[in-house]
Amino acid sequence: MKLIPVAKVTDLEPGSCLSVEAEGIGVALFNVNGAIYALDNTCPHAGGPLGEGTLSGEIVECPWHGWRYNVRTGEKPESKEIKVACYDVQVEGNVIKVAIPTD
Ligand code: FES
Repeated sequence: MKLIPVAKVTDLEPGSCLSVEAEGIGVALFNVNGAIYALDNTCPHAGGPLGEGTLSGEIVECPWHGWRYNVRTGEKPESKEIKVACYDVQVEGNVIKVAIPTD
């Protein structure tokens, strides 16, 4: 694992999301009432950018065709076998860091 700084906390208001990159990997960040979560940015349906979706509570809706995912678990509430990869997040001061697998 490698911790990569990807954004500032002040760039991610509660209730919002953001597309970022961590060493070439597209990552979607979400702020749920001050708790920050990270998912792979690529929707398993057809590749839509989840960091540009609409967040409501813990659920993000893909901007392309509306598939929904829980940002804490990566699971699609309607069918749990569809899942987006989750990344661990660490916040240090105003810096959001995402743990990216190194192998
Ligand atoms: S690409 Fe995300 S719902 Fe179609």
